[in-house]
Amino acid sequence: MKSPIFAANWKMNHSPADATAFIRTFLANFGKRQDRSVIFFPPALSFGAVVSALKDRPDIQLGVQNIHWEDKGAFTGENSAPIARGAGAKYVLVGHSERRHVFGETEVETGKKVAAAVRAGLTPVVCVGETLAQREAGETVSVVLGQLRAALGTLSGADAANAVIAYEPVWAIGTGRNATPADASAVHHAIRAELHAFLPSGSLAVPILYGGSVNRGNAADLLAAPEVDGLLVGGASLDAEGWSSIVLT
Ligand code: 13P
Repeated sequence: MKSPIFAANWKMNHSPADATAFIRTFLANFGKRQDRSVIFFPPALSFGAVVSALKDRPDIQLGVQNIHWEDKGAFTGENSAPIARGAGAKYVLVGHSERRHVFGETEVETGKKVAAAVRAGLTPVVCVGETLAQREAGETVSVVLGQLRAALGTLSGADAANAVIAYEPVWAIGTGRNATPADASAVHHAIRAELHAFLPSGSLAVPILYGGSVNRGNAADLLAAPEVDGLLVGGASLDAEGWSSIVLT
């Protein structure tokens, strides 16, 4: 019996006022329950509003969408892992496709961000995924496992066992074209095997989420696929009623 994770990546959406209204509606639909976990990743400036709106619901977790790899210093515009932790975050997205492809984040930087997250007591949600060209060239597994090794390579086995992995094929993000459950499952199996190779005793503790054009219509089938431990959702997490129905899948 799985206890799936439903993670909402709001990206650059929802002002503090919108976020507060969203959480109010969501809480009216979603009572406390043991059989699933919900994590919200609001934009940094709306983070405090979501913390306040969730003050009576410690069952719902929060994460930030990005951190700098240094703990503090002269990095105008950035937020560090200790700042995120202090603000109430438990998780951080690292290596999201938009960080890699829009902002040019490298695998080395991703590795440093994962290390910074762990230092501060945050759980990194390590995002990996191939482009369409890489998939068509048959490189999916090698690209994804390369990203995984770069991200987790500096961690001890115990710290790596506390990570979360999100497989998000770049071609599926925001396109309306999700991976099939079978395709997602195949990549998740490869990730699990790689985790087992360097984390023999802890690999099964690492949840592997799928992300990329998840919606109300495909969430149940994706979640039912072997090795899919949860969903990381962008566009379909922006509407409180729609997101409630996905979480109640
Ligand atoms: P979409 O659900 O909008 O495709 O975005 C997925 C994603 O990038 C979540 O991190």
